[in-house]
Amino acid sequence: MKVIHLTDLHLTRSREQRMFDVSTYDNFDFVFEEIRRIKSLTVIELVVVSGDISNDGDVDSYRYFLNKMESLKTPYIAILGNHDIKSNFDTALTEEESEYIITSCEYNNNTWHIISVDTVVEGEDYGFISKDNFAELERKIIKNSGFNTAIFMHHHAIPVDTPIVDSCMLNNAKELLELCDKYKVRFIGSGHAHTPRTWHHNNMTTCVAPAVAFQWLLGTETVKISTGFGFNIINFSPDLSITSCIY
Ligand SMILES: [Fe+2]
Repeated sequence: MKVIHLTDLHLTRSREQRMFDVSTYDNFDFVFEEIRRIKSLTVIELVVVSGDISNDGDVDSYRYFLNKMESLKTPYIAILGNHDIKSNFDTALTEEESEYIITSCEYNNNTWHIISVDTVVEGEDYGFISKDNFAELERKIIKNSGFNTAIFMHHHAIPVDTPIVDSCMLNNAKELLELCDKYKVRFIGSGHAHTPRTWHHNNMTTCVAPAVAFQWLLGTETVKISTGFGFNIINFSPDLSITSCIY
């Protein structure tokens, strides 16, 4: 099962508004055409978008996102990040004909169970999994114990060694990693860090996907970016593999 993992689109208020001289709409459009091209070469079963879809949470940016995603005609999961505004996302969602979005944010195939977990704390850049969300996550993992489990979320759980984002990562990452270890979760995918990174620990892969908008310079404490952008293709086969597509 091949899954495309997009993260941190940061679509701005208007197409003309740039972030650090980057047009986030141009990047998303480019990535989108690449996904179309890749889809003509191989089967993509699912697209997961792990948050910061919008930079300022405008309804228009969500309308743009949902329209494009629907036109792919591939099931997709949209997780929200610290820049997103849930009520505005929901407004756009109720307006659009949304046939392909998986609103439960859960997906099963024969061997894999994909779950997402909400890490957003309203008004804060850091992430935290609430007690209720934690319990819900554990319940879902146990219920699907016959499958390989993959979890997607917005905030990164392991420092990427870039202080500007490690200062606002997932606050209760230790508890999450212990839970994943306990139930032999195979994969955790996230965004937020704008610093692509993959770790392998025992049988678990933890992966921060490259942002669609821009990357932070590795190790930076201040606002310094690289305009490179991209996404990952994760092949959830017995030998899990990750292809990073960078532009
Ligand atoms: Fe974020």
